Amino acid sequence: MKRAWWKESVVYQIYPRSFCDSNGDGIGDLKGITSRMDYLQKLGINVIWMSPVYKSPNDDNGYDIADYQAIMDEFGTMEDFDELLLEAHQRGIRIVMDLVVNHTSDEHAWFVESRSSRENAKRDYYIWREAKDGREPNNWGSCFSGSAWEWDETTQMYYLHCFSKKQPDLNWDNPEVRDRVFEMMTWWCEKGIDGFRMDVISMISKPEGLPDGTVAEGALYAGSGMTCNGPHVHEYLQEMNRRVLSRYDIMTVGETAGVTVEEAKKYANAEGTELNMVFQFEHVGLDGGAVDKWSRNKIYLPALKENLTKWQRELAGVAWNSIFFSNHDQPRVVSRLGDESPRSAKCIATMLHMMQGTPYVYQGEELGMTNCPFGPIENYRDIESINAYRELTEAGLREPQELLSCIAYKSRDNARTPMQWDGSPNAGFTSGTPWIMVNPNYREINAEKELADPDSVFYYYQKLIGLRRRSEWSDLIVYGDYELLLPEHEAVYAYTRSLDGRRLLVLCNLSAQETQAKLPAELAGGPKAVLIANTEKAPRLGETVTLEKWQCAVYEI
Ligand code: GLC
Ligand code: CA
Repeated sequence: MKRAWWKESVVYQIYPRSFCDSNGDGIGDLKGITSRMDYLQKLGINVIWMSPVYKSPNDDNGYDIADYQAIMDEFGTMEDFDELLLEAHQRGIRIVMDLVVNHTSDEHAWFVESRSSRENAKRDYYIWREAKDGREPNNWGSCFSGSAWEWDETTQMYYLHCFSKKQPDLNWDNPEVRDRVFEMMTWWCEKGIDGFRMDVISMISKPEGLPDGTVAEGALYAGSGMTCNGPHVHEYLQEMNRRVLSRYDIMTVGETAGVTVEEAKKYANAEGTELNMVFQFEHVGLDGGAVDKWSRNKIYLPALKENLTKWQRELAGVAWNSIFFSNHDQPRVVSRLGDESPRSAKCIATMLHMMQGTPYVYQGEELGMTNCPFGPIENYRDIESINAYRELTEAGLREPQELLSCIAYKSRDNARTPMQWDGSPNAGFTSGTPWIMVNPNYREINAEKELADPDSVFYYYQKLIGLRRRSEWSDLIVYGDYELLLPEHEAVYAYTRSLDGRRLLVLCNLSAQETQAKLPAELAGGPKAVLIANTEKAPRLGETVTLEKWQCAVYEI
């Protein structure tokens, strides 16, 4: 296994809109982020991935970019960005930018030109098609409800948008589009940024002829599967790697919707011809419904173990994993896998952070921030939730109250409520009116309180991060082989990590009941050390181990 700094890193994701507001307009901004740099340094992370900060009309909170080389007005200026970069670098923290190039905003100059006439030089920058029998060219649905095609009156053709109609898809088969994107990436690299998180990068190559997909029962359109891992995606990423990525010491992570293990081995291949690693989504799909994500299902632990173990085992030595359960598109993990208690937050964190791969912490996760009781649909801001509610209830496919309870459980907005800094009004996020409601539990859960409590979730994350980044076990945690124990156990996630004759044992009771687990004899002896535990005393090892509810510990055996 080759060493690399990005394998030895811990990444912290910031959703700038909700992190910290410096000027009282209710919207987080770059100066706000810079003002919290000491907090992040204290946590111990060494990479920040910022969700998009570019100029955008915010149809999808910045994932609709109108100018890749300008900062969103609400977030500040390019000077603010340069200052943020400098302040981060001075603390040994690297900055990874969100790269959204499957699509642009419809307000991007390229699209404004492209839609102006059929003959425009930039017409072919996007994906335009004639109507078919007076209708959309195919049956693809947008990820945000409705058809993936929008009729354009001026030029009497449809354009493709896999997301909102204000997010037209770029045509990557056009070499000029690739030139423009690579130039823009080079510009950011020259500025000194440290990497890219690539938004839905698995969707950039559309299948030849844009054929119809299958429409699941209970759905209105074909799902986005048709657009994932298309025929030229690896070719285009290899070109990007040759022309941009390989020229800089940066890290790259692809958001690869629909990725399989086989595909991930190509995207994140150890030869380094494409990306460093990818985000896969199978594990966060385990509680989905039959048709879509809107369900209140709970993840069945043996299924989770089987899935994560497959990724651990299959990518070992040939690619590299990203480890995460939380981001700006997922509900809060402590409400999803845990019971919202600090102890469950620590247990889940341990289960993830001791695996092989680069861990990602999403803002507020390190405090144990929970889902938010939004109430009526009017309190949501997310285009995905709002559109799904409207479309599915209007079509009579879902009953409003039942769907609303699923949205409460799964909405992306759960991750987007303001960061809870302290117990003052609006959780110390803003002195104005926040753009989205603050979770009412901010007086119990906030950074100020946790920084004053040595037993807090914050300090537990700090310790986990420290173990991985600088401790006598670092190599073992970063590079060790993973092996699952007790695959069938419905409450305990147990595994070992081994390297050069040293071995760690990770035990996590992911349930709200006390439970027992039988260990193989060679692991049952007295441990050499306890690295971390979320109770005062770690469970006593023996052939049968008793774990309290949500109890976890890591041992050197
Ligand atoms: C990715 C982003 C998500 C966004 C979508 C469209 O999935 O993570 O937030 O809505 O792409 O850009
Ligand atoms: Ca602001």
